[in-house]
Amino acid sequence: MKLKLAIIGFGNVGQGLCEILTSKREWFKTGQNFEWELVAVSDFQKGSVLCDDGLRTEELLKLVQSSKSLEDYSGKCTKGLDAITTIQRSNADVVVEVTYTNIKTAEPATAHVKTAFSKGKNVVSSNKGPAALHYAELKKLAEANGVQYLIEGTVMSGTPVLSFAKENLAGVQINSIRGIFNGTSNFILTEMWKGKSYKASLSEAQELGYAEAVPDADVEGYDALAKVTILANVLMGTNLNPSQIKCEGITGITEGDILKAKAENKKWKLIGEIIKEGTEVKAEVGPRLLNADSAMGGIDGVLNAVTFTTDLLDDVTVVGPGAGRKETGFAILSDLLRINRALK
Ligand code: HSE
Repeated sequence: MKLKLAIIGFGNVGQGLCEILTSKREWFKTGQNFEWELVAVSDFQKGSVLCDDGLRTEELLKLVQSSKSLEDYSGKCTKGLDAITTIQRSNADVVVEVTYTNIKTAEPATAHVKTAFSKGKNVVSSNKGPAALHYAELKKLAEANGVQYLIEGTVMSGTPVLSFAKENLAGVQINSIRGIFNGTSNFILTEMWKGKSYKASLSEAQELGYAEAVPDADVEGYDALAKVTILANVLMGTNLNPSQIKCEGITGITEGDILKAKAENKKWKLIGEIIKEGTEVKAEVGPRLLNADSAMGGIDGVLNAVTFTTDLLDDVTVVGPGAGRKETGFAILSDLLRINRALK
């Protein structure tokens, strides 16, 4: 059986996923028993195309890479549908929801996710809005409709964190979670430490595809805040809302602050932490001054890291890329493989 996919949002992540799926198609079939068909793509800027018999991904990628509309796709297909109608009309088994994150309203992504569930479709998403604001509700809704809501790519892109903790740390008690959760701000802080300006570092992070569509979410800490909320709610069973968590970004750190830290062999890092104290859970996001030689102090560039402090294993740390086109594309793929295994 081929897993039928509809991609909603065809920016960096959607295209990154498409490239991975296309380039490894044969290997996925023989090595992973995973066969797929892309049946719809809808993007509010790039247009939409739906074809129940499958779309040629190479042509779709070529169109967007030459700044053409998806609706220039050749062949008899339905074109011009909005995202909701695409989800409703397509015969996809899985909706890949990779539209831009809106951390304040979580829309229109939440509507996309709910529509998919109401049509009995699984959702795989790297969108942090619905996951941070409505995880418990959406998880319940998925279960009620007999489908899955998988969000590995919401935290540390393709570096396994949520599935790692849920599957491999099942049975230990996690007492605290602490880490660097925003690739863009870590990249900026690292570049500034090397002597580059804030502005030039941010531009480079945008060019490399690390930053959010509106990068304020990265540098003001809201992206890390969303990830901290997701970690607490998914792994610690809390029902926190981002508005309950103290949050400060990196915009208050000057080039002078960084040079002063450097002279003392220290580095500024944007740290997110969640600490369980009895039945209470405290969470916070903010800049911290760390020794350059410490484990977290050594996490530079777009790398992210998370340390789980547990009862049976003490500290367990996972380090890996925190943002990027192919990295987040891989996160989506890892959830698709999970659904594929479950269906088999
Ligand atoms: N803008 C995010 C970051 C992308 O820089 O970490 C990954 O969530």
